[in-house]
Amino acid sequence: MPQLIATNPEIVTMKTLVSPSLLAADFTDLRGQMEMINRSEADWLHCDVMDGSFVPNISFGFPVLQAVKRICVKPLDVHYMIVNPERYIEQTAQLGAMMMSVHYEACTHLDRTIHEIHMAGMKAGVVLNPSTPVHLLQEVIEDVDMVLLMSVNPGFGGQHFIENTISKVQRLRAMLANCGSSALIEVDGGVNGETAPRLVRAGVDVLVSGSYVFGDKDPLARIRELKYEKV
Ligand code: DX5
Ligand code: ZN
Repeated sequence: MPQLIATNPEIVTMKTLVSPSLLAADFTDLRGQMEMINRSEADWLHCDVMDGSFVPNISFGFPVLQAVKRICVKPLDVHYMIVNPERYIEQTAQLGAMMMSVHYEACTHLDRTIHEIHMAGMKAGVVLNPSTPVHLLQEVIEDVDMVLLMSVNPGFGGQHFIENTISKVQRLRAMLANCGSSALIEVDGGVNGETAPRLVRAGVDVLVSGSYVFGDKDPLARIRELKYEKV
């Protein structure tokens, strides 16, 4: 089972990690969907929390996440699309999340927030909107466990992949190599059987996928398909 080492997030797998996005699940059958995820080769479960302020949509919050956590055996990869996400670090840690990712654009004191996430016992991810350049992470890159590049404008599932993400992944890969960082690169939005192999060739470690996985009649096969050998 691929995993993240507790204190040193080096990649111990030669395959991409897959983090199916709960947002695209059938909420009328949450238990069935989580049991499918448990049986699958998914590495994590991606949980999109939206506040209707940072993004023009509202998704779900702690009551749903707690229900999911009771059933889902995969580590929770929580993606906050909310303003001032530092307000929820303690609650997210108590939930038992493995990774807490916050938007660069939503945090006034990003350095402090990263350290507070670590102090609470979680991995820290920083998320960039499509229009935010990777070089803005220069001063925190050595402290983060993962950088999540949005390949759609956040707020909704099922959108079209923004092509510029491919070269952005390459720029981030070069930046991580330059500073000797072993942070993971995750991409979120429009990931499917056509975009995923190109993302993997560009240097992605973790693929988030919502509608491609949950919208298919064979989600287990779609998850297996997204487990690529890394180049
Ligand atoms: C979008 C969310 C994504 C979304 C991806 O704001 O952050 O995680 O669920 O959905 P797809 O894979 O359908 O683009
Ligand atoms: Zn997401």
